[in-house]
Formats: sequence, C-alpha cells, structure tokens
Amino acid sequence: MSKEQRQRPNTVPRLVARAARGEKLVVLTAYDALFARIQDEAGVDILLVGDSVGNVYGGHRDTLKVTLEQMLYHTACVSRGVQRALVVGDMPFMSVQTSERDALVACGRMIAEGGAAAVKIEGGTHMAATIRRLVECGIPVMGHIGLTPQSIHKLGSWSTRGRDQEEAARLLEDARQLQQAGCFSIVLEKVEPGLAARITEELDIPTIGIGSGVDCNGQVLVNMDMLGLFEDFKPAFVRHFATLSADVRKAVDEYSRAVREGSFPGPDEV
Ligand code: KIV
Repeated sequence: MSKEQRQRPNTVPRLVARAARGEKLVVLTAYDALFARIQDEAGVDILLVGDSVGNVYGGHRDTLKVTLEQMLYHTACVSRGVQRALVVGDMPFMSVQTSERDALVACGRMIAEGGAAAVKIEGGTHMAATIRRLVECGIPVMGHIGLTPQSIHKLGSWSTRGRDQEEAARLLEDARQLQQAGCFSIVLEKVEPGLAARITEELDIPTIGIGSGVDCNGQVLVNMDMLGLFEDFKPAFVRHFATLSADVRKAVDEYSRAVREGSFPGPDEV
C-alpha cells in the first residue's frame, strides 16, 4: 500500500476500484475504539462492526440477541477510533427485515448515530428490494450470503454452504441479485471454495471471504479470533496470528504475584 493510500480515508468507490485492480481487501471486525484505532493504524481497509459482538463480548452462543441499540453503541465507539478505514455497521436480527421503512430508519441511524459509512445486511434475493431502496437513498450496502448466522435455526448447522447443486445455484443467483440491487460488495461466509471462486469471477463487485477459500477479493476475520483472544472454539478457517490470551494470562499472573508479595507499586510508582 502506498503512503498516499495510507493517509486518504477509504471510501466505498475507492475500495471497489482497488479491488477491481486486483488488490486484496483486508477486513477485520472491531467492536470498540481501542482495537479499532490499533487496527486502523495497522492499515486495515474495512472495519466491520459485526453482530458477532454478541458472541465475542456478550458471551452468547449465537448473534440473535444482539439489538440495534447495542450495534449503534459499538459502531459509534469504533467510528471514534478510526481515521482511515471504512466503518461498516452490521444490521442485527430483524432490524431490516420487517419492512422497507424499518430498514431505512434502522440503517439511517447506523449512519447518522453510529458514524458508519455503510451497512451490512444478511440475506440474498429476498433482501434485494430493500437493499435497492437503501442504496437509492444513499446508504452503501455490503451483502452477506452463505452461512448467515442470523438464519442458524433455518440452516440447522454451521457447516459449509453451497455443496449441493441446488444450493450452489441459489447462492449464485443471490449474489447476482445483490449486485443488481446495488451492493458494493458481498461477504461470502463458509461458501464452498469452488463456488466462491465462481461467484467472485462472475461479479464486478468485490467478494469478501470468511471460510470460503483464497479466491475471494478480500478476507475478513473476527479480530479476537485472529489475535488468539477468543478461545471458546476455533473454526478450521481461523488462523491465530497471535496468542494474546496467553500473554494476558501471563501479565495477570505477574501482576497478581507482584501485588501479593508487595512489590507493586514500587517506590516510583505512586
Ligand atoms: O458479525 C460478524 O462478525 C460477521 C463477519 C464474520 C462476516 O458477520
């Protein structure tokens, strides 16, 4: 990445153009100003305030309990920490499905109150009309198909999607419909890698993969997974680029020992 690219704030058109030139987009989740600032300074292109906050920070098994108010809070925190990365606010369960009007109001709040530059919406063809309306009203939308965690009860498992021909054809059609509706990019979550490559090849807008192989135009991971902080489970597609939970345990251990033996605070630490 050039020095100029580092300094200019990322916009939707700039990121789409960079992907079209063959640059891979780097996407990570963020939920708070502190990590957002570090990740932004390290040069991440897009910070997604995912409803995975319900798992990572909330300790829930799924994302279904996350509310719009919680998402607005976390998105505003991330927006305050960021200077360059594009902030995308995830629309939680049933915040945009109930009507186009509800979607406009909820997404409008995500932009105005959360400070996001775009929203992410789970779902394929059935969400296309709503997405078209949002885009017409000036709200950039990132789509999300494949394993869509908000539909976990319908899907029945966390396994890879698009393995059989029927579902593969449906996902390809979903991707086409989302592009036509005006999405600026689409997250492909746990989509069979051959199918993810085919969708990426066919679309003009960038695909962002998670557990969908290397051929997507960019990759996203949950930041706490990537940093080795979230230990409840490790899906096969997650790589730990650090082992921060071990570092935290060690630091807490040393602090506890110092407090207990009376060596903290020292004479200069007052
Ligand atoms: O909520 C989230 O973090 C997500 C990404 C993992 C794509 O939707």
